[in-house]
Amino acid sequence: MTKKIFVTRPIVPDAIDKLKSFFQVEVWNETTPPPKSVLIEKSVECDAFMIEANDPIDSDVINAAKNLKIVSTRAVGYDNIDLSYATSKGILIGNTPGILHESCADFAMGLILTLGRRISYSHYNVLKGNWKVFDQTPYLGNDIHGKTLGLLGVGMIGSAVAKRASGFNMKIIYHSRSRKIDLENQLGLIWKSSLDDMLQEADYVSVHVPLNDDTKKIIGKRELDLMKSDSFLINTSRGGTIDQLALTNALKTHQISGAALDVTDPEPIAHDDPLVSMENVIITPHISSASAATLRNMGIMAADNIINFFTEGKMLACLNPELLS
Ligand code: GLV
Repeated sequence: MTKKIFVTRPIVPDAIDKLKSFFQVEVWNETTPPPKSVLIEKSVECDAFMIEANDPIDSDVINAAKNLKIVSTRAVGYDNIDLSYATSKGILIGNTPGILHESCADFAMGLILTLGRRISYSHYNVLKGNWKVFDQTPYLGNDIHGKTLGLLGVGMIGSAVAKRASGFNMKIIYHSRSRKIDLENQLGLIWKSSLDDMLQEADYVSVHVPLNDDTKKIIGKRELDLMKSDSFLINTSRGGTIDQLALTNALKTHQISGAALDVTDPEPIAHDDPLVSMENVIITPHISSASAATLRNMGIMAADNIINFFTEGKMLACLNPELLS
């Protein structure tokens, strides 16, 4: 019998067409995520899901499953999925590592430049009609070259940011559980075994850790208090890694100079959230991976995870590979 696949967004037509050449495919044709009740209903009916990073695959959805064998997320992060529960119920979880890191790193570097040199702030002033005279002084920014970048996490994305930052002549320090001797040798990175030391030294702190129990609010009031008053915080990982209220206060009191957030908690951030209207804050709508090519390639990989599993019993990337053997 043909397998039934539920795809929770219509955004990668090539991936959907590819799935359709193997399976019966139903697509949620909205830009907003399907409600939980729909996920539960589809969990009863379907053999596989292809989902986005904000579709919750929790115990309610998993408990409803009858034939659901695989959930393939078009994302590298999987904090929206109860992985251990899915594993206990024999449901495979696929994701898309190895595709988006270069695009994310381009974007993170762009945020560092935009924040430090006040690019979007000055553009906004030109849009408002405020360029009336040659006067650079309202827009004086901070340099990038010669400054210290502190990377929290140097997985594929963090290390791709390090490569770019070294081209900008930044000093790069990093904090991660394990040392990356290769990166240290290649790019001159300096390991800080203590997060506190890294925060005290960096001019730009960029967060590149996945969201999990260890990293939830890893940057809170105490950590923000350690940062320099002329430093900046950049987050392209998950909103939940930062205590947003503490960040709001730190920005209000000039404990730090500014922040660039591609991710917030919740998403979307409320339009009347104080962070949205702060001049020293840049917020983008969770798009760091979203070049057209990378979005498509992630979609194809997510589809291939499902196709390869049902045709060959294999997956390109599986988060619970013990279920495959
Ligand atoms: C995007 O946020 C991803 O995890 O791929």
